Amino acid sequence: VATRTHGRALNPDGLDLEKALAIMEFGHSLDELSPSAAPLDSLELIRASGADVMFENTPVNYNDGQPAISYIETALKNNMQAITANKGTVVHGYSYLQALAAEHGVKFFFESTVMDGVPIFSSFRQLPVMGLTSIWGILNATTNLVLSRLEAGDSFDEAVRYSQEIGIAETDPSGDIDGWDAAVKVAALITVLMDHPFTPDMVERTGIRSITPEMIAKAKAEGKRYKLVAHAWKEGEKIKARVSPELVSSNSILYNINGTTTIVQFESDVLGKLSFIEEDLGPRTTAYGLLADFVNAVRE
Ligand SMILES: NC(=O)c1ccc[n+]([C@@H]2O[C@H](COP(=O)([O-])OP(=O)(O)OC[C@H]3O[C@@H](n4cnc5c(N)ncnc54)[C@H](OP(=O)(O)O)[C@@H]3O)[C@@H](O)[C@H]2O)c1
Repeated sequence: VATRTHGRALNPDGLDLEKALAIMEFGHSLDELSPSAAPLDSLELIRASGADVMFENTPVNYNDGQPAISYIETALKNNMQAITANKGTVVHGYSYLQALAAEHGVKFFFESTVMDGVPIFSSFRQLPVMGLTSIWGILNATTNLVLSRLEAGDSFDEAVRYSQEIGIAETDPSGDIDGWDAAVKVAALITVLMDHPFTPDMVERTGIRSITPEMIAKAKAEGKRYKLVAHAWKEGEKIKARVSPELVSSNSILYNINGTTTIVQFESDVLGKLSFIEEDLGPRTTAYGLLADFVNAVRE
């Protein structure tokens, strides 16, 4: 285990998980778990671990996916399965890491990057020769919750604070509020499922900062709701993508996707419209996606 400020632990005989959790709870250092000092450099620690699998979960870097990409590259080059929930690795490193994994006979899996444990990427691996024409939905739970709380009467700051209190929003929620999280997720879906490299800066992006309580009240009076909608579509040979607040009426499927619930809808040449809806998400569902990836990687 390597962290930035909570120490690092390396033991070829395995780590005591209960003890590791207790160390974290009491704010001590994971260094205590190592029989001898673990390498300070994370790449060196990965190489020295002799592990069969690496779970990579550092914070997302929207600009270049680092240092996560180099961690995964090192794991794959050392014949480890590499599993991540980090979206930056997909939008900035997918084809390279995928080819590297194939060369070393292991897997690079990333199910939890979009909608946590919902089996999007693993389902599509079972759906060959299908052409996607569009992707559409509400991919970010924090902004959906904030919009629902605004409708219930909270101020913007109260709604964000509530999202942080229940563990959905980050301490710095700007990645969610300004639409970056939805943009990186739609870019990951395009990159993998439409087989077209796409980075978050290619997504036309507007967040929800400009939505005022007055706008919410007016929409409510008209029987409508604001939603932060992510959309990707084909225009000839090109793929375009946008994340922006949209006013939806009660006949839209999005109208009843509220609070922390999220949805994605895929339109394809053979299956028409196919949707996934996720309720009650959280770290546990993300952890499940990582575990499922691991089991699937080993099983395959
Ligand atoms: N939380 C979720 O439900 C969720 C859902 C889907 C995807 N994800 C993705 O999963 C990843 C982790 O999310 P999180 O919420 O667990 O983030 P987090 O709470 O910020 O944890 C990140 C961890 O990475 C460590 N770290 C940071 N920089 C590092 C570095 N350079 N080398 C080694 N370790 C480093 C941190 O160490 P310290 O503890 O010392 O700071 C911390 O332990 C992110 O990419 C996120 O987008 C999370």
